[in-house]
Amino acid sequence: MMVRNAPAQNITLFDNPFQMDDLMIFDDNTLHIMLARGEFGLTITSLAHSLHGMNKALQTRIEHNLSPQQHRLFLQELHRPLPRSVIACAQRQLLDGLFWELTYWKTPELYEELTEGEHIHPGIFENLQPDLQGNTILDAGAGSGRASFECIRYGAKLVYAVEPSPGLLHILEQKLGHRTDGQRIIPQPGRFNALPLADDSIDVALSCSAFTATPEQGGEPGLAEMLRVTRPGGKIVLIWPRREDLAWLRSHGFCYVSLPLQQEMHIHFRSLKSALRCARRFYAHNKSVAQYILNRHKPEIPFSVLGLNPPNDYCWLEVAKARKY
Ligand SMILES: C[S@@+](CC[C@H](N)C(=O)[O-])C[C@H]1O[C@@H](n2cnc3c(N)ncnc32)[C@H](O)[C@@H]1O
Repeated sequence: MMVRNAPAQNITLFDNPFQMDDLMIFDDNTLHIMLARGEFGLTITSLAHSLHGMNKALQTRIEHNLSPQQHRLFLQELHRPLPRSVIACAQRQLLDGLFWELTYWKTPELYEELTEGEHIHPGIFENLQPDLQGNTILDAGAGSGRASFECIRYGAKLVYAVEPSPGLLHILEQKLGHRTDGQRIIPQPGRFNALPLADDSIDVALSCSAFTATPEQGGEPGLAEMLRVTRPGGKIVLIWPRREDLAWLRSHGFCYVSLPLQQEMHIHFRSLKSALRCARRFYAHNKSVAQYILNRHKPEIPFSVLGLNPPNDYCWLEVAKARKY
């Protein structure tokens, strides 16, 4: 799947344009959650090392979101004398670990550019149509609404599009403004672990390329929330799950469906220039991506060249009719 993870390793993963100051884009709630849980490899030590010599405003924001115990460690590591190479390495690891979060928050239009031609296999929504038709749907981690719009196309009555990134929500709102059926999608800020919806208020809770078994992207707390908001007899559907999460999903009762492919699935970019821009920014670690585009001189690329499994699979779970929690 394409849930965008950024393991911090000693290889060039991305043409990472982000700077430490870009962490200011996150709101206090998000910073607090990331720091409390050490999400995306964000340890207090690595953060303090990365902030050596950085602007005071960011330091103050970070301090404001630390517990007293974290604060002590933070100050100790912030004032530890370190060679420039160690600071630079800590910064690179931290920014690579946060690459996708920063993309969603700071450059949502580039995420939109990357994914607008990355279509989910239509057979998934055809299969789901009986569950979507006339029903109330949650799209958790909705981004700019890729799955939300498909739900409407396949007959959903109402879709709550819950998403933490204000920038992606803004893009979704702009798209809704251009549609006559825009009022059927309700964009809402929120996260997997605290969905802004009432108990049993949803017929189908789905998530596309967003939910994983790790707590920062769902995990046990996220699944508990999806169960809470979905009515008994409703369904939870995870589209394009990560391969490494399949065992976890099976152990939680999910069934797995993979649709047969008549031909290889491709991403279609809006232009050659856009394809090359996305290849450089998002696939710097895979030189064959840009090479493939240049050789064929076409703005499209098969998932196999990207090193990704195509978006032709999903997992689903029927919520027990008996009490759920
Ligand atoms: C790969 S994008 C997929 C977006 C959209 N579902 C799609 O198919 O284009 C992952 C999305 O999950 C969101 N996300 C990340 N952490 C999240 C969390 N804890 N709770 C809810 N959404 C989250 C991101 O902001 C991002 O929009």
